[in-house]
Amino acid sequence: MSTTDSTTASPDGMDSTERDEAARAFLADFRSMSTFGATTGGGVDRQAGTAADGQTRNWFRGLVEGHGFEVRYDAVGNQFALLELVPGVPYVAMGSHLDSQPLGGRFDGAYGVLAAAHAAIRLRAALADASAPAFNIAVINWFNEEGCRFKPSMMGSAVFTGKLPVEQVLATTDPRGTTVREALESIGTVGDFGLEVAAYLEIHIEQGRSLEDHGLSIGLVESTWGANKYEFVVHGEQAHTGATVIADRHDALLGASLLVAAAREIADEFSTDEHAVITSCGEFTVFPNSPVVVASRVDLLVDLRSTDHDVLAAADAELHRRVAAIEERADVSIERGAEHIWASKAYDASGMALAAAAAEELGLTYGTVRTLAGHDSTNMKDIVPTIMLFVPSVDGISHNEKELTRDEDMLAGVDLLTEVLRRVVGGDFVAGG
Ligand code: GLV
Ligand code: MN
Ligand code: MN
Repeated sequence: MSTTDSTTASPDGMDSTERDEAARAFLADFRSMSTFGATTGGGVDRQAGTAADGQTRNWFRGLVEGHGFEVRYDAVGNQFALLELVPGVPYVAMGSHLDSQPLGGRFDGAYGVLAAAHAAIRLRAALADASAPAFNIAVINWFNEEGCRFKPSMMGSAVFTGKLPVEQVLATTDPRGTTVREALESIGTVGDFGLEVAAYLEIHIEQGRSLEDHGLSIGLVESTWGANKYEFVVHGEQAHTGATVIADRHDALLGASLLVAAAREIADEFSTDEHAVITSCGEFTVFPNSPVVVASRVDLLVDLRSTDHDVLAAADAELHRRVAAIEERADVSIERGAEHIWASKAYDASGMALAAAAAEELGLTYGTVRTLAGHDSTNMKDIVPTIMLFVPSVDGISHNEKELTRDEDMLAGVDLLTEVLRRVVGGDFVAGG
C-alpha cells in the first residue's frame, strides 16, 4: 500500500482555478443527477426500466450531448455516449449504471457513470493540442446492473459480453409480468447500436469498509469474489392456519424459512480465517400471504459468495445437501429455478500496475481490494482488458439510502480515472489503432 500523502497533483495539467471549476462542475452534476428518483430518506429509487430510470437516462443524454458526445442505444438498452477523437480508431469504454435498488443510495453505479463522463470531458480538453490519441472514448450506462426488478443483475453487460442471449433477456418479466422489452420501449431508450471495445475502465464506490479502515482514498480491484445465486421455489399446500392439524401441513413458508436459516449457518460453518463465505436471502415472496392461510408457495433467492473456488463449492454442496433434509422436515418440495453464477477471477495485473502508477503520480493513497459485489466490469473483464477502481464508502453502507461517499473522495476518483484514461488512450494498456 502506498503511503504517499493525499495532496493530489492534476492529472491533466490544469491550474488550480481550472481544477476548482472542474470539481464544482462534477459536484453540481452529481447533485442534479441525484434528484431523479430521489427518496425522502436521501437516496434514490430508479429500478431498471422505470420512469425514474428513463428520466435519469434522458438527463444523462442531455448532459453529454451538451459536451459533444453522440448517444446511442443497443438492443438491451445499454446507453453509449461516444466521444470520437480520431475517426476510425477503436474505442476505450468506461462505464457503470444509473439504475438503483429500491430505496437505494445515490452513489452506487451513478457515481461511476458521471465520473467517466467528466474524465472523458477533461481528457479531451487536455488533448486538444497534443498528438492524436490511439483510441476514441465511450461512456456506457449499462442497463439493469442491479437486477432487482428484472433478474439477473448485470443484465446489460451480460448481453453485451455474450453471456446472455438478447431475446431471452427481452422476454424476461418483472413480478407484474412486464417484459424488459416493454419496459425499455416505455422509456424509449433502446436501439440497435453495437460497439467494439478495446479496453474497459470502471470506477465505483467500495460498498465495504476496507478503504476507510486503512485510511486509503483509492482501491485497485485485484479480483472478484465468486458468487452463486439460486432462485428456489418451495411448494407446499394452502391450508387453514388454525383448523389444519400440524401433521397434515405442507407449509411452504416453514420450508423457505429453514432454507434461509441454513444459508446463514453455512456462512458461519464454512468461513475460514483465509476465505470468508457470505450468504444471504434478499428476496422472499409468500403466496398467498394471507393471515389465516398456511403458505402454498414461497419464491426466494439465495446468494452464496466466497473468495475461494473450493470453499464456495463446498458451501454450495452443503446448501444443496440440506435442501433434501428441509423437504423432509417441512413436508414440502423444493424446486431450483434459474441460477446466476460468476467465478472468483483476477483483473488484469498490468492494468492494476498502470492504475497504481497513476495514483502515485497524483499523490493518492491506494491499496488493493477484492470486490464482493458484482459490477459490469465482472462481465467486461472476461472479454477485454479491464481496470476496476474503488473510492471509499462511509461506514461501508450500501444498498441503503444512507450510502455516502465524501466529495473529496469522489473528486480524487475522477482525478485518478482521468489520469488512467489518459494513459490508456495514449496506448499504455492495450495497443491502439
Ligand atoms: C450485483 O450484481 C451483486 O449481486 O453484487
Ligand atoms: Mn453498482
Ligand atoms: Mn448495487
